[in-house]
Amino acid sequence: MAHKIDATARPSGSRWQSRYRAGSILAATALVLGACTGGSDSSPGAGGSADGGGDAGGYPDGPITFVVPFSAGGPTDTVTRLIAEPMAAELGVEIVVQNVEGAGGTVAAEQVANAEPDGYTVLMHHIGMSTAPTLYPDLPYAPTDDFEPIGLVTEVPMTIIGSPNFEPNTMEELLAYVEENIDEVTYANAGIGAASQLCGLLFETATGLDVTEVPYDGTGPALDDLLGDQVDFMCDQTTNTTENITSEAVKAYAVTTPERIEALPDLQTTAEAGLEGMEVTVWHGLYVPGGTAQEIVDALNSALLTALQDENVISSLGDLGTAPVEQDRATPDAHAEHLQSQIELWQPIIEAAGVTAG
Ligand code: MLT
Repeated sequence: MAHKIDATARPSGSRWQSRYRAGSILAATALVLGACTGGSDSSPGAGGSADGGGDAGGYPDGPITFVVPFSAGGPTDTVTRLIAEPMAAELGVEIVVQNVEGAGGTVAAEQVANAEPDGYTVLMHHIGMSTAPTLYPDLPYAPTDDFEPIGLVTEVPMTIIGSPNFEPNTMEELLAYVEENIDEVTYANAGIGAASQLCGLLFETATGLDVTEVPYDGTGPALDDLLGDQVDFMCDQTTNTTENITSEAVKAYAVTTPERIEALPDLQTTAEAGLEGMEVTVWHGLYVPGGTAQEIVDALNSALLTALQDENVISSLGDLGTAPVEQDRATPDAHAEHLQSQIELWQPIIEAAGVTAG
């Protein structure tokens, strides 16, 4: 099957910002500043390395912007906000979370690739960093060359879920229903390069079914529409779906891990449901622009390592079906190796499926 989807048609300019202050739990949850400002707030604080060029002197001495490539309220956003608070405390400065949506996460990645390499603009991205080079023939950045990895953060299982009034109740019923109603059934995702798009591609490959995709700027808004029966089914990360599955607000068909997960013990795996090769977890990592000074990379990595040992981070991620990565994977070297191996893993799978962004 060959797909060509105009992923660049998605809106690319909407931005949300929230601020996380060192030592302030209230500030971490309350402030939302400048919705849809259309501008980037990545300038260093007074006395920061305004001339860029990787000068580490005195870093950090002003707010740091964490750029999230998908909508507020979605899985990437959730993970970012969870670690932003303890990282802000550790670094002793404010962290501003900014959602820069569009084109399956590539708009945000391009913005950070082109930002000053001064440590004040940091990208949180996921598995999409490794699939974009194959999906986007004209990708305006190179994931392995134009960034310095800071460290891996977490690996999140995905779940296949259906809208509350979607007819199928089991995976068997889902497959039969989709086959019978192939022209009507809709599958929500967050655009070409999103984890939900990759998971849908694996579903199509495993089942031979070619479903109609409805792209959003993130699975936060996609899940809202699914809950409202506007779209039929989707694949999404447990950080976004666990509560809706346990409260039975959505239909749940399978989890994409080799084993069942603790947060959703009754949910069968894709392998149990007979879907071959449909295992995927969504790894997340932090990046700064290429050319950033080693001292800055080290300072951010040290704060990340501390954040991943934070009790609130561990228990919140646990409730959402995941956990921080082990400390030896939250390093620049381990992250760089993982990125390279994931690019090599996904390239032939995507090429075989014939998917490109046009
Ligand atoms: C999001 O944060 O909205 C997701 O990570 C989107 C996706 O990749 O499916």
